Amino acid sequence: MYQGILAVHSLLRWLILLFLIINIANSLVEANTPYTQKDKSWNLRLLIVAHLNLLTGLYQYIFGGKGLNYFTDKVAYPNFGHDVMANAVNRFWAVEHITGMIIAIIIITLTRRISMNDNIEPGPKNKKLAIMYIVAFVIILACIPWPFRFDGVPWFRGFGLN
Ligand code: HEM
Repeated sequence: MYQGILAVHSLLRWLILLFLIINIANSLVEANTPYTQKDKSWNLRLLIVAHLNLLTGLYQYIFGGKGLNYFTDKVAYPNFGHDVMANAVNRFWAVEHITGMIIAIIIITLTRRISMNDNIEPGPKNKKLAIMYIVAFVIILACIPWPFRFDGVPWFRGFGLN
């Protein structure tokens, strides 16, 4: 089951990036026109996949070998500062990935509120949304364990592709 959830988590990354690009485009192209129902539904799709990855990620963080265990396994990591924080790979899994992604998901969640708020003028609203989507996009790009940074993490997991 863990491998299945990991494959879903890995795959959803591509959907999140795609939906972020669509939402960025929606808020930049025709920036002064009202935010339509179609735009709102793209915002909702992004919100759903981001929250799904939060759930699958939390599961992996708690039950897998790259998360809570860095804090609790005193045999493998007796000195947290030295064995986890001073090791770039361990620090990434223990702290950086979860923190960066949760911040990005909070930003995406806030865009939902703004996108639903009809009282903000189209221009400022689209500008605000574009900035938030772009910030979330950059954070997520920076916090993804890309195969060129991490051994054993494929571009696509599952479906016989790795
Ligand atoms: C936008 C949100 C997120 C994206 C795009 C994302 C992306 C990824 C990717 C691409 C991997 C590598 C998967 C593989 O090895 O094939 C990964 C692994 C992992 N992620 Fe995330 N992640 C996100 C959010 C989170 C969150 C919020 C958490 C924790 C609460 C989390 C915890 C983990 C853990 C523990 C692993 C390692 C799993 C393992 O190899 O056993 N992720 N993530």
